[in-house]
Amino acid sequence: MMKAVILVGGEATRLRPLTCNTPKIMIPVLNRPFFEHLAGYLKKHNVIDIVLAVGKSPEQIQDYFGDGSRLGVRLTYSIEDLALGTAGAVKNAERFLDDSFVVLNGDIFTDIDLSAMLRLHRKSKAMASLALTPVDDPTIYGVVETDSEGRVRRFIEKPSRDKVTTNMINAGIYILEPDILNHIAPNTFSMFERDVFPPLLEEGQVVYGYPFQDYWIDIGTPDKYLKLHHDLLRRHVGNRGIEFEGESFVHSSAQIEGPAIIGEGCFIDRNSIVKGPAVLGARCRIEEGAVVEGAVLWQGCQISRGAKLRNCLVACRCRVGEESEILDGSILGDDVLVGRGSELSKGTKIWPGKNIGPGKVSS
Ligand code: GDD
Ligand code: MG
Repeated sequence: MMKAVILVGGEATRLRPLTCNTPKIMIPVLNRPFFEHLAGYLKKHNVIDIVLAVGKSPEQIQDYFGDGSRLGVRLTYSIEDLALGTAGAVKNAERFLDDSFVVLNGDIFTDIDLSAMLRLHRKSKAMASLALTPVDDPTIYGVVETDSEGRVRRFIEKPSRDKVTTNMINAGIYILEPDILNHIAPNTFSMFERDVFPPLLEEGQVVYGYPFQDYWIDIGTPDKYLKLHHDLLRRHVGNRGIEFEGESFVHSSAQIEGPAIIGEGCFIDRNSIVKGPAVLGARCRIEEGAVVEGAVLWQGCQISRGAKLRNCLVACRCRVGEESEILDGSILGDDVLVGRGSELSKGTKIWPGKNIGPGKVSS
């Protein structure tokens, strides 16, 4: 089967402060690094040779995933000294590529049928096939216009609203022929979306779209990262299910409502409430009367008595003081200390290691 190149670079600024210490490809989704989900998906589609085109933090990624054998895949690393952009990164991996290959943005979670996409790619004899998915707001993606046969006519990256002619966008999944590498300059920053696809189309090269309806999400923003959790929780444990990943203590007066995943070694004290969709990382402490609802907590967090968390993201080892409230899309980076009685709402972001509160806090 095909080899895959996964693009693992960029600054991941929109996911800060979650990505201050953790590369986007490693942030936990249902308590497992995101790449484990991606590797599992590719393996299911018989793609086991994976090249990670890494632009940032290569050591952290290599140390964790190694040669991929733990995940049942074969990983090789193509490392950029300087960011080369999405196309430059693939050109940089040229030595690993000798046949049709698939390229994936490293922040995509999808159920697209790669074999069906490959069949269409072969049938159309395209140099490039682009997976296309419908979205509500195309302006934050690459918009792809096709003709009635599915051949791509235009590619416009992040168009202004008046330039949007379709809601079908580039899903960040390409099947490419090695010949495309001859159209990308070596050791030069270049993006498929701006520097490769538009000129190829102008030259009249054969590029096809592969529209699909299966699940697809780009986890590159906090709201989508949280949404993926909510969607996957329902898929893994059902609407009301509760999964314990290991032994935890749950007081008989505590209430846990699914869908929820509770990491190993958690302590859920008297009269506290965990209301799904929710994920607790390993060794989280939810103290007396605290409420955690619609939230994702990474490992080792302590939520003190009477505190309330709702629809928020809390990275590793945070401590939330008594009677504090962290609400509505707020995000705490690693090791944040929130003072007693603090209030955070409306997407307030607190950087790793900060000590904040009490009182109303906004970023
Ligand atoms: N190796 C490497 N080097 N990877 C990079 C670099 C780089 O210089 N720059 C970006 N990447 C990786 C990112 O890590 C990410 O996995 C992927 O390329 C896409 O970058 P994003 O920053 O996430 O782009 P986007 O989400 O704004 O837009 C892209 O994805 C959309 C679909 O989610 C574009 O491809 C759009 O056209 C597309 O619609
Ligand atoms: Mg993205």
